[in-house]
Amino acid sequence: MSSPAIVAASLLPLLLAYVVFRRPGTIRKIQGPPSPSWIFGNTLQLLLSAQYGEHEFAWQKLYGAVYRLKNCFGEERLMVSDPAALHYIVNSSHFEHAPTLENLIYLLYGLKSLVSVPGTFCAHESPYTQSLSIAEEHKSLRAALNVGFTAAAVRGYQSIFEKAASRLTEELHNSSSATIDICPLLSFATLSTIGEAVLGQSPEDLGEELIQNNLEIVKLAASQSRRQILADAVTSRLPAWLFRAAARLPTPTLKTIRAAKRLAYELGDRIVQEKRAAARDGLDTDGDLFGVLLNTDASGTTKNGLAGDVLAAQTALILIAGQETTATTLVLALRELARLPALQADLRSEIAANAESLAYDSMPLLNAFIKESLRMFPVVPIDDRIARQDTVIPLSEKITLSTGEDISEIFIEKGQIVSIAIASFQRLKSRWGKDAHEFNPNRWLQGSAYSGGEALGPYANLLSFLGGPHNCLGWRFAISEMQIFICELVRRFSFALPEDDTVRIRLVNTLMPVMSNGQKGAPLIVSPIS
Ligand code: HEM
Ligand SMILES: *[C@@H]1O[C@H](CO)[C@@H](O)[C@H](O)[C@H]1NC(C)=O
Ligand SMILES: *[C@@H]1O[C@H](CO)[C@@H](O)[C@H](O)[C@H]1NC(C)=O
Repeated sequence: MSSPAIVAASLLPLLLAYVVFRRPGTIRKIQGPPSPSWIFGNTLQLLLSAQYGEHEFAWQKLYGAVYRLKNCFGEERLMVSDPAALHYIVNSSHFEHAPTLENLIYLLYGLKSLVSVPGTFCAHESPYTQSLSIAEEHKSLRAALNVGFTAAAVRGYQSIFEKAASRLTEELHNSSSATIDICPLLSFATLSTIGEAVLGQSPEDLGEELIQNNLEIVKLAASQSRRQILADAVTSRLPAWLFRAAARLPTPTLKTIRAAKRLAYELGDRIVQEKRAAARDGLDTDGDLFGVLLNTDASGTTKNGLAGDVLAAQTALILIAGQETTATTLVLALRELARLPALQADLRSEIAANAESLAYDSMPLLNAFIKESLRMFPVVPIDDRIARQDTVIPLSEKITLSTGEDISEIFIEKGQIVSIAIASFQRLKSRWGKDAHEFNPNRWLQGSAYSGGEALGPYANLLSFLGGPHNCLGWRFAISEMQIFICELVRRFSFALPEDDTVRIRLVNTLMPVMSNGQKGAPLIVSPIS
């Protein structure tokens, strides 16, 4: 035999093995937009577009509810807005936070926070006993913390929300100019409600250092750049030990983030000590979540089995997860009211008609408006996951591969990055109707908002609060706070967009309003109603 033939012959078994044992991974054959660069893939289009969704919604239109994108350095990712697929991904133990997200969680919250623990419900499927205990850990920690986030607990916070809302209206009345950037006011208001409801601390008690650091964190979170995207891509490939070592570098950004983590822990720890001391003195500590959870006996252990240091380690998460998310949703909602004067007038009438006793849950337009705001502006519009093992994702609707073949499920391999495309899901015409891209609260009143198919998410079939075992712990808290703030603001002020409104909604870690100077902000003309 000639040498090429020998080579071919010896390669044949390998080739056969490849054909027979090849993973039927379909990802390469899934359609998607071309990648403009090997280094950045499609990430610049996805993350740095002038207006959020510019490319993403066009891709969805072109390629459907599941398509393929490139991350940095040629890594493939799957963008998923198909309801059955999303239902599977958020509930399945086969997925966990993607490395970039895991790194951010580590930096901000450390290793002991609720969100740092994988939310693997069905750990019995896992061969690792290690995961079993992690899953149980998440479940029991979550169950303990949930005491402060049940419907009843949240009703108990109404007076806290009302107090923060009236402080907010006072600040707006006090403001000397008609055009006001409402972002900082709302960020402060939402921080203060969490401080009171969860920690039992007034804003003043949180400490000047923490408040200053919080402002810096909000500012940091409001920047995104090519450099950051590249840095995230590189650090997501580092082994955990190296990343954790790098996290100790003395850069200004890392210093601010480390300070945030330390200040939150110190605050939590101080509160734990205070509550214990108060309980030892026979004082009632049940006024806030930490107090309830620390419902101490003399030995200093808690009835709920939450040790003080575990509770203190949740402080950063709860402060950060609940503040800007709620504030930004409110800001974007108020901007829509400013843009749509007829809607604003209708809402004001509904509030006036209910003025005697505001029964927030039975005000149809108010709640339709909140749902529509969450649908159009999910502050976490994309949430990345990584497959922990090979798995098969079911689809509601078949997709056509580049080979012309139709498939109704997708096989993916361990390590595959999958993006939960929350914003895209919430623009699906098949689910929300032809006007899915319009802000139209009426869809929730006329019953035309989609009500069949997979039930997704804890609220209104939306994924803004995610779904599954890791869904947002504070969603009821957020809804109640938004109801109360919106009623209070809309009955006292009218809102209009400035004539030269240049604000764009961009994805800067989360969705946020960005002014023409690149800073976060949302100036509105706010006029008191006499
Ligand atoms: C409109 C406001 C809010 C939105 C849109 C929102 C959204 C989300 C999302 C998408 C997640 C899942 C993150 C992930 O695992 O990838 C999440 C988790 C979480 N949220 Fe919220 N959130 C909001 C308000 C709040 C509030 C007010 C609190 C508490 C006071 C809170 C506390 C949490 C916590 C503790 C988790 C982690 C849950 C777990 O891992 O088991 N959130 N939120
Ligand atoms: C979520 O996953 C668990 C465990 O795999 C399963 O038992 C349950 O039926 C799933 N829930 C839904 C709503 O699919
Ligand atoms: C509003 O102004 C009054 C009078 O100057 C002041 O007493 C009050 O503290 C201000 N309120 C807020 C929330 O800034």
